[in-house]
Amino acid sequence: MTQTVNGHGTVTTSGSGPRGGDDRLGSGVYDGPRALAEARRALRVALPEPSSKYTQDDEWCVVQQPDGAWSEFRFHDYDRIFDVPGLYEKIFYDVLGCDSPRFMVGLLADALADARIEAADVRVLDLGAGNGIMAEELAAVGVAHNVGVDILPEARTAAERDRPGLYTDYLVTDLTALDAEGSRRLAGHELNALTVVAALGFGDIPPEAFRTAYDHVAEGGWVVLTIKDAFLAADDTSGFARMIADGMASGTLEVVRRERFRHRLATDATPLVYEGIVARKRGPLA
Ligand SMILES: C[S@@+](CC[C@H](N)C(=O)[O-])C[C@H]1O[C@@H](n2cnc3c(N)ncnc32)[C@H](O)[C@@H]1O
Repeated sequence: MTQTVNGHGTVTTSGSGPRGGDDRLGSGVYDGPRALAEARRALRVALPEPSSKYTQDDEWCVVQQPDGAWSEFRFHDYDRIFDVPGLYEKIFYDVLGCDSPRFMVGLLADALADARIEAADVRVLDLGAGNGIMAEELAAVGVAHNVGVDILPEARTAAERDRPGLYTDYLVTDLTALDAEGSRRLAGHELNALTVVAALGFGDIPPEAFRTAYDHVAEGGWVVLTIKDAFLAADDTSGFARMIADGMASGTLEVVRRERFRHRLATDATPLVYEGIVARKRGPLA
């Protein structure tokens, strides 16, 4: 007998009644991750010619559809990308070499070990959670309480479809206009860490949404973020330099790890360099 789990993957059971522990619902073969890997492998993606240059706001690729035709996807059309199982991973991981979630969770795990804090005691707000790759990496180092927040319903649907069970809760909301119910829901999770990976700036998460997420993390909690180096430069006009660079300078954000790293390649194969920061929250941001 084959049953659907969460509307996606399948478990296979014998259908012949109890047989020790083997017949418990959910203890059979769950093929969600395998289905995702297969979908990812089967996708065909092509980039613009390497001599063309696009800003990160304008990057795009074409993807072959089941009928053989090719469709254009802007990289910031996350709703359309998440609707296709494996497409986000194909574009950003397989083709453009992104490894930021694993890299940043590695920095966090090192920092937790140095501070002698158990990963199991960390309760994460994962802002710009997308289809759950951060939750997968966090779970791999022992962080069990992860709350996703994303502005797109397609992101939560994709996380439930592709990585079921990894988020304790997942809010689809705009943190620049969080209502009282949303705020209560976040407060109920007693969060002591904020992760924001590959999601700040470029028409994605604005400074005010970051601040609201930050305000829901306990004092002494962890802040894990990646940001393009230009957003921390003195001449930045997005507001991140004032908020994050000033927070680091004043000690409100006590930096415990800071690394420049290759977030991914651009479509012309040049590296996109980001700053990866792990800090402790020591007070409110200015
Ligand atoms: C590049 S994806 C990164 C996803 C995930 N953090 C990862 O590393 O795989 C950026 C995510 O930020 C989300 N996002 C963009 N603007 C947002 C906003 N204002 N509030 C919350 N999420 C937002 C997008 O919907 C998308 O899921």
